[in-house]
Amino acid sequence: MRLVLLGAPGAGKGTQCKNIVSQYGLGHLSSGDILRQQRSQGTELGKKARSYMDSGALVPDEIIIEMMTEAIEKVPAAGYILDGFPRTVEQAVELDKALACSGQEIDAVLNLKIEDATVAKRMSGRRSCPQCGAVYHIENLKPKVEGLCDNDGAELVQRPDDKAEVVANRLKIYHQQSEPLVDYYKNNGTVYDIDAENDADDVSALISEKLDSLVKT
Ligand code: AP5
Repeated sequence: MRLVLLGAPGAGKGTQCKNIVSQYGLGHLSSGDILRQQRSQGTELGKKARSYMDSGALVPDEIIIEMMTEAIEKVPAAGYILDGFPRTVEQAVELDKALACSGQEIDAVLNLKIEDATVAKRMSGRRSCPQCGAVYHIENLKPKVEGLCDNDGAELVQRPDDKAEVVANRLKIYHQQSEPLVDYYKNNGTVYDIDAENDADDVSALISEKLDSLVKT
């Protein structure tokens, strides 16, 4: 299966990908995680991406398209889920072209639907591990010891782009530049709308229902 997961910032894409990956044995390619890794390694790409990310703007298409098409080529054949990419119609067009070169296409798109007010609550409470990238929430997904990562004991931090003013900008950009992708994919293939207002386990069950039906066909 080659899947795309769409949804506003904080809709729960990363959270849901963990379950999808373990349940269906897919590779997980998160453009945000790859960019954050590049930043922490101090690469040229990471340096270029920094100011865009911290202001909530999108990193330019040409940088992202090259980074993600390279990453896709390295994924094992069993399939993958793309999280955070594509994020503009231009990125989707270029992805389709790159896949077509090797006779492939996206099999299905999952679209997490959520209100802006819910996003604001989720982002303000999100805490991340700077070492392993694990994600928590101060109310919905608490670590065993307050403020510390369950995996490695590192002190949890708030992502710089989770500050309220940056979140507002990210949501504005999502509605302007990323939401049109839903229609792009509806005109080109299968899109499953998923109600992401529910708690994480219920969202996960809704996704499994859709993916199980896809596997059977
Ligand atoms: P990226 O890291 O991709 O950020 P995003 O898409 O804005 O998504 P998030 O990681 O913020 O949220 P999520 O949907 O994964 O939610 P999560 O599961 O963590 O991108 C960051 C930046 O990189 C972009 O702004 C841009 O600058 C750049 N970038 C990346 N890709 C790009 C591209 N393709 N083109 C250009 N630029 C690009 O959940 C959030 C919180 O809610 C957590 O605390 C979680 O525990 C909690 N939670 C999750 N689900 C639930 C639930 N159902 N109920 C209650 N709480 C929940």
